[in-house]
Amino acid sequence: MDRPTILAIETSCDETAAAVLAPDGAVAATVLASQHDVHARYGGVVPELAARRHIETVESIVSDAITQAGVTWDALDAIAVTQGPGLAGALLVGVSFAKALAYARGIPLIAVNHLEAHIASAWLEAPDCPLPCVVLIVSGGHTHLYRIEAGWQYRLLGRTLDDAAGEAFDKAAKMLGLPYPGGPAIDRAAREGNPTAVRFPRPHLKPRSLDFSFSGLKTALLYYLRDLDRAGKPRRTADIAAGYQEAIVDVLIEKAFDAVRRSEVGALAVVGGVSANTRLRSLLAERGAREGIRLIIPRPSYCTDNAAMVAAAGRRAYLEGRAAGWDLEAEASLAIADEPPAVATRAGRA
Ligand code: KG4
Ligand code: ZN
Repeated sequence: MDRPTILAIETSCDETAAAVLAPDGAVAATVLASQHDVHARYGGVVPELAARRHIETVESIVSDAITQAGVTWDALDAIAVTQGPGLAGALLVGVSFAKALAYARGIPLIAVNHLEAHIASAWLEAPDCPLPCVVLIVSGGHTHLYRIEAGWQYRLLGRTLDDAAGEAFDKAAKMLGLPYPGGPAIDRAAREGNPTAVRFPRPHLKPRSLDFSFSGLKTALLYYLRDLDRAGKPRRTADIAAGYQEAIVDVLIEKAFDAVRRSEVGALAVVGGVSANTRLRSLLAERGAREGIRLIIPRPSYCTDNAAMVAAAGRRAYLEGRAAGWDLEAEASLAIADEPPAVATRAGRA
């Protein structure tokens, strides 16, 4: 079957999501229930509450996706699910649900790595995105630069040595008293501010390193706010947010384009929740145009967690004959494969 209809389920963090890909690979439905209301009062994701909400929501979200896609259950050829990385209890909900559904319907179960799903979102947006290319993944848990080879092998070029870019946004928002989730809140606040009013350090590490470090920036903000408060000066939140955001965006862009130059590729994809950031998107676009580099940034709804990207990664795995066994387990710290996994038999087919 080289034109599969794929249902995908994503529950790795605080979004319960399902999507259906049509036989031609187009998104037939993508549905999402955000849990922001559950976690906002705690200022961050509470793992137990996330898992509980997934349990309550997953069935209706999957049914909605099937209805929206206008397909019957019989039309499904495989079920893809995020296996990891993510919150253990949250992942377990999606994996158990997908496993039961695939088993009951007698169709293959496909395990998807959440990072590979983010990478796949670039091809969802631009199916002609060329290989090899460089991909920057910027999310709540990851800041990774990969070169992706023509045969889909991933080569890690650089990664954060401490906090992820999304974490740097979220922690700064908390310090500034902005609401959860912090990234979008800083993005909004910064639009009213001057990005050059407050200058924060650009942590570049060694001059030629493609690794990142954001923990020093976070500390710089902490001291800046402490000094302001001690001096009894008002916090100009919009300017501070804009200056802080600018430091993160600057470093991400410098390293991403350095990676492109050193890898001698003509295309850069930027994916993951932070790639929804408006300042990052506009500065990336300017730089890409100036340097003649093809830039792919998925639409914002494909940047933050969603199941369409899981379906896209699952579709490729399905076409390569990779199915999971019924003993599939959620893996909170699942790593991305440096090499594609060995082609397995369709163990998932009942
Ligand atoms: O990819 P994602 O939805 O979930 C993970 O896999 O982690 O990324 C979530 C991260 C959070 O840290 C969130 O604050 C950040 O992406 N984020 C943003 C924006 N939208 C989401 N950061 C900056 N600007 C945004 N507009
Ligand atoms: Zn994600």
